[in-house]
Amino acid sequence: MGKSLRDFKKVVIFTGAGISAESGIPTYRGKGGTWDQYNWEDYACQAAFYRDPEKVWEFHEMRRATVADCEPNEGHCIIAEMEAELPELTVVTQNIDGLHQMAGSKNVLEFHGSLWRARCEKENRIHDISELEMESWKCDCGAWLRPDIVWFGDGMKEDVLGKATKAIRQCDLFIGIGTSGVVYPAASLPSLALENGATMIEINLEQTPASALYEYCARGPASQMLQDLWEAEEILGLNP
Ligand code: APR
Repeated sequence: MGKSLRDFKKVVIFTGAGISAESGIPTYRGKGGTWDQYNWEDYACQAAFYRDPEKVWEFHEMRRATVADCEPNEGHCIIAEMEAELPELTVVTQNIDGLHQMAGSKNVLEFHGSLWRARCEKENRIHDISELEMESWKCDCGAWLRPDIVWFGDGMKEDVLGKATKAIRQCDLFIGIGTSGVVYPAASLPSLALENGATMIEINLEQTPASALYEYCARGPASQMLQDLWEAEEILGLNP
């Protein structure tokens, strides 16, 4: 007898931009991707921020405005429902849009930070974006605030990396959703789950460099694939 998702006890859901695509948020790569239209070296790295902090803030303000008009989609909602029903579920997301939390997910690790926070590097203090007057991206200590996002070339947030690694090492089911699997160290997480014997499911529209790590690949839009998997009495192809 095969397994259903409800047979698992410690689940990690690892998401990328593809889970938010159906909410209307552009992915980074592929047709119409953000990095097709903008060169990340001008907008999403520390060197760009030192060169022109206002330009970088304007780019992130534009992205925040896009996200502010979007709602979590059925895929986000099913993940929140799974968290409520299963004994233990951790979302490890590469996304910075906050849609998992808006959909009701509680246990969310933001591997690449958040569009909704800013950081004062002088005081090492985090500000919620809504606290800030618009256009004044300065801390009250006078220093420039910086988006609280892990940009290309940045080090990882140690606490987030530690919690994500711990959850992945202990999980019995790892579902990778809507990620192209090309940005490290995030892209190394599926291998960690496989090494630790987790059942591996990939949800994506297409094959990725990580697909070979997954025992079961559901090809289609995340919301539909998640609904089918969540409702299935038995997920064919999963080890009994
Ligand atoms: N359902 C499922 N998968 C989808 C959907 C959908 N509706 N739409 C797109 N996808 C898939 C694409 O096939 C692709 O594999 O989502 C993936 C999106 O890949 P990327 O745009 O590269 O996004 P991501 O993997 O999250 O990027 C990782 O790169 O730029 C950095 O920090 C940024 O967190 C980001 C990281």
